[in-house]
Amino acid sequence: MPSLDSYRPTWAEIDLDALAHNLAAVRRRVGTRLVLAVVKADAYGHGAVGVARALVSEGVERLGVAIPEEGVELRRAGIGAPILVLGGFAPAQAELVLRHDLVPALYRPDQVEALSRAAEKRGGAASAHLKVDTGMGRLGVPAADVPAFAAILESASGHVRVTGAFSHLAVADDPADPFTRRQIDLFQESIAVLRAHGVAAEEIHLANSAAIMDHPPAWLTLVRPGISLYGYPPSAKVTPLAVRPVLSLKTRIIYMKEILPGTSLGYGRTFVAQRPVRVASLPLGYDDGLPRLASNRGYILVRGRRAPIVGRVSMDLTTVDVSDVPGAVLGDEATVIGASGAESLGADRVASWAETISWDILCGIGSRVPRVYVRGADREVVSRFDPI
Ligand SMILES: Cc1ncc(COP(=O)(O)O)c(C=O)c1O
Repeated sequence: MPSLDSYRPTWAEIDLDALAHNLAAVRRRVGTRLVLAVVKADAYGHGAVGVARALVSEGVERLGVAIPEEGVELRRAGIGAPILVLGGFAPAQAELVLRHDLVPALYRPDQVEALSRAAEKRGGAASAHLKVDTGMGRLGVPAADVPAFAAILESASGHVRVTGAFSHLAVADDPADPFTRRQIDLFQESIAVLRAHGVAAEEIHLANSAAIMDHPPAWLTLVRPGISLYGYPPSAKVTPLAVRPVLSLKTRIIYMKEILPGTSLGYGRTFVAQRPVRVASLPLGYDDGLPRLASNRGYILVRGRRAPIVGRVSMDLTTVDVSDVPGAVLGDEATVIGASGAESLGADRVASWAETISWDILCGIGSRVPRVYVRGADREVVSRFDPI
């Protein structure tokens, strides 16, 4: 196993004990419902294989990815748990989906046809979940069209078994918004229509993290947490769940200097020193998860203190003012997300500098950042690059 010393000193630590703790918090909230852990987008930047393995060992019943390719990645890593492809598939991917034992979302007639043909060729039946659009408006059979689609499914039932149906909520993170109730009702009506057409769909699901927190009628038979497993609330309005952030993003000071008044830093010369400033250069930039909009706005933690970001965050480098960090020296650890002394900095705070959401920050931590999986005293380094 590689040691971190072989790499640029910028890494993400993934606390698998926190992940298990968060799964347990979700379970306590939803009782006996099955849990489908959403591990799409490389498990929200935490590393899909490492996270999926840990969650499966904690007993999670299902995994959810966005695209078939993500499911194949998990299968190639030896993960055998049921995988639902939430975003569906291109008809040309039908055979691949079956070969890797993935359960795809369905919402187009040509998907039903392609899946049916591929299943027939393999001499079996494919399982799939119907995606119903109850108001998100992106993907899914509109609730009004479910009767017509159910007839298509009925005629393909020899080779396509619709074992589940689901929809996605648009405003569950605002508990007071009545639109969620309308989506739940519409989904229930769609299920009744499916059953009337003989489509069994035993697994029915609607609840993302926000609905797990505040909308028990959306729990149905299975819940689909994403962001709560990674330790963040979906919004400031939801009833909090006792979760804690799983990921810390860390780096080290690789260059130090003192600049004089009038000296500028970085692209565009957006920072010009007004007094002598101790500047630390950090080997991370927007490819590593620190958004460019944090330039001259955000801060990084060094020795438990806030070091303001000065100048533009660039692709690989960021400069911070450590004038008020006593004793800061070359090689010091710097925390971009996580805790340092009594201070802590969350992905949601970083998101606020960039006018975005914690999901976006976590997913934005590029693939060149090694992920270090920590469980108790064990550490495993996973990098896209071979150790030097
Ligand atoms: C279909 C579906 N279900 C569940 C989730 C999980 O949502 P959250 O991260 O808000 O828990 C997502 C994520 O966007 C999703 O696309």
